[in-house]
Amino acid sequence: MTSTTSQAGPLHLALLLALFAGVAFGQGFECPNNNGQYPDPENCRIFYTCSNGIKYTQRCAGGAFYDGSKHECVDRHIKGGVKCGPQPVTERPVTTVDPFAAEPCNTQACRLPECYCSRDGLRIPAGLTRDQIPQMILITFDGAVNALNFPKYQSILRNVTFSNPDGCPLKATFFLSHEYQNYQQVEELYSEGHEMAVGSLTREAGLEDHLEDRWTGEMVSMRAILGYFAGVRDIDILGQRAPHLKPGRNAQFEVLSDYGFDYDSSTNVPPQDVPVWPYTLDYQIPHECRSGSCPTRSFPGIWEFPMNSHYQDRDYLGGFCPYLDQCVLTFLSEVEIFNWLKKDFERHYTQNKAPYQLSLTANWFADGQPEYAKGLQMFMEYTQQFDDIYYVSMNQAKQWMQDPQTLDNLRNFEPWKCTKELPVLSCVNGKSCKLGFSPDLEAANGGGTRYMVTCSSCPNVFPWLYDSQGIGSDIPDTYEKTYQSRIQPQTPAIIQPDPNQVL
Ligand SMILES: *[C@@H]1O[C@H](CO)[C@@H](O)[C@H](O)[C@H]1NC(C)=O
Repeated sequence: MTSTTSQAGPLHLALLLALFAGVAFGQGFECPNNNGQYPDPENCRIFYTCSNGIKYTQRCAGGAFYDGSKHECVDRHIKGGVKCGPQPVTERPVTTVDPFAAEPCNTQACRLPECYCSRDGLRIPAGLTRDQIPQMILITFDGAVNALNFPKYQSILRNVTFSNPDGCPLKATFFLSHEYQNYQQVEELYSEGHEMAVGSLTREAGLEDHLEDRWTGEMVSMRAILGYFAGVRDIDILGQRAPHLKPGRNAQFEVLSDYGFDYDSSTNVPPQDVPVWPYTLDYQIPHECRSGSCPTRSFPGIWEFPMNSHYQDRDYLGGFCPYLDQCVLTFLSEVEIFNWLKKDFERHYTQNKAPYQLSLTANWFADGQPEYAKGLQMFMEYTQQFDDIYYVSMNQAKQWMQDPQTLDNLRNFEPWKCTKELPVLSCVNGKSCKLGFSPDLEAANGGGTRYMVTCSSCPNVFPWLYDSQGIGSDIPDTYEKTYQSRIQPQTPAIIQPDPNQVL
């Protein structure tokens, strides 16, 4: 993932000039194909995305260059160097037809609650109309939670100005990775009712070409680590998101369905006039697969929450982005960022009300650009006036998809109530464990030191792929497959602690 570096005052002018200069780029560029991503032949920061034959000029964030063979923005100092400009393409080998390939959506056979699809992906489930249904907003955070971003995330999540129309607090979803994570803080977010999901253990680039073994380590070891060191119950970790928007082809989804996850949110929809609703993977994906590494087989009952591209309008140089911080908004004021978000949101709200993802990373909250966080707060404040806008977790959204409720019935909808018992936080500070970093079990003593904060006891070594407890032995973890979808346990209803009360 590219990162947006903070821009100090004097840099603003330089950046502004660069952006104006950027207008000139791509004048002569024409899309060679209807869909695809292409480097600028001269400027290593500029690239073009063609979507349905329309060209979008984009630039990599500061410090990053566009690599013409990887087809993504990479750190300009990356090992091995950046391949600027167009690269010779190797022809893909002719592949035989996969007998297990998913078929186009069959609305006759595909029925809720197990299956949902529509040919164009734009349809509201259960034949409901826009006016009958809530607009769901899904706040998602990717990466590790730690002292650098925890207070910033909480400044939104714990802000008592924001609540849902039924009085319940907002719920967000975290796609967590392992390194530099503070597991006490994860536990704290979990105990406040937010949803914990896995975003891969290593966040390594290139995972899309790995097989089931590796994906099991990335996702199932990560889930186990969250259990051991943050007290998150297995049964509550239902979602996955592949890093760098590169779903792991069929392998990731085999692991997802074999090990009892319910949904994925890694596919990216190109900018289009009407956003796509979540769907199950029983049938073909109803939109272009921008990453080129989406699953092609049928995975019955597995939900996909696609990331609709964010954009303001098609000519705008801020470009479009699956993660909000990838759009170039650096030169905008907080009011302009608010207006940008509002316009992006209205494409959902005024049309088919497909769930709107506020897809964030720590970059959004970088210290040098307070306009971003302020603009987001303004947007959230703006949404408070509508009694049909709900900030729910992805699992709550999935539950709504399986059993769609009209606005009239929503207050009786069990999965959205906030009277459920919340997990108990086991400590308020946690201890910092100093651990040997052992990505290879064979090299247990090499490779530096990691600090890991947890309420649990310290492991022997830094936990890793297939060593989720951090034992440091040479016997890898074994994980049990669970083929059937798991049922939420019944928990006694107690009143949720007052959201005004901050721990
Ligand atoms: C909470 O949000 C409101 C509305 O955007 C903002 O004015 C206020 O400063 C926020 N409070 C905190 C503690 O961040």
